[in-house]
Amino acid sequence: IFKDATEASKAVAQEIAGIIRRKNAAGKPAVLGLATGSTPKKVYAELIRMYQEGDLSFENVITFNLDEYYHIEPDAVQSYHRFMKEQLFDHVNILPENCHIPTGTLPLEKLSAFCQHYEAMIEELGGLDFQILGIGRNGHIGFNEPGSLINSRTRLMTLDITTRIDASGDFGSLAKVPRRAITMGVKAIMDAKRVVLLAFGEHKAEIIKKAIEGSVTEAVPASYLQGHVNVKFVLDEASAAELT
Ligand code: F6R
Repeated sequence: IFKDATEASKAVAQEIAGIIRRKNAAGKPAVLGLATGSTPKKVYAELIRMYQEGDLSFENVITFNLDEYYHIEPDAVQSYHRFMKEQLFDHVNILPENCHIPTGTLPLEKLSAFCQHYEAMIEELGGLDFQILGIGRNGHIGFNEPGSLINSRTRLMTLDITTRIDASGDFGSLAKVPRRAITMGVKAIMDAKRVVLLAFGEHKAEIIKKAIEGSVTEAVPASYLQGHVNVKFVLDEASAAELT
């Protein structure tokens, strides 16, 4: 539990930088699972600062984003492709071919093969060294909405109404929010060697209590993380307020 989101984000960025340096020193790429949304923005800003100051290189970093709306064009303001370019990729020396985000424009019949290939790419690289997560007010991780099973695979998911309401500000109205998204499955998240979930603000306090102190249940997919061997929840005081 940190004083605020800025302090928390600096600590997480330091951890990510450490993983990149350690893997690169061993002659290997660092394989990172990334999230979008408001929560990780300060972590990305801090990583950009480290790069600009010459402390960190992304030359040997490979990334896989958790999710993307379906259907959405990559240059749409709300697309996660655009988000990642604006918040991180355009500002560091990462190679475009090393950045993976689920494609939001594929025809339906190609999605299943695409999702299998997405997971296979991660497995071929030896798995994710690090997965950063936010949490939805309904307990979703990635877009694994309530009801998602612990062994769920990367797939097309129908978005929960809470998720669509929370995204309606970005899209201008609820009707304009896509009804579906492609998400990395819970299994791929649980298979990551290290998972760090960030939550900031009092609107996350209730779900953080359920995720950490409640029972492990498909009704709160983040609660599955209680069974991960190397997970950390990074909170500010507001989101931690209801923990006993
Ligand atoms: C985004 C993602 C989502 C968000 C979650 C919280 O890639 O996978 O699970 O992390 O909806 O969103 P924010 O951070 O905007 O509160």
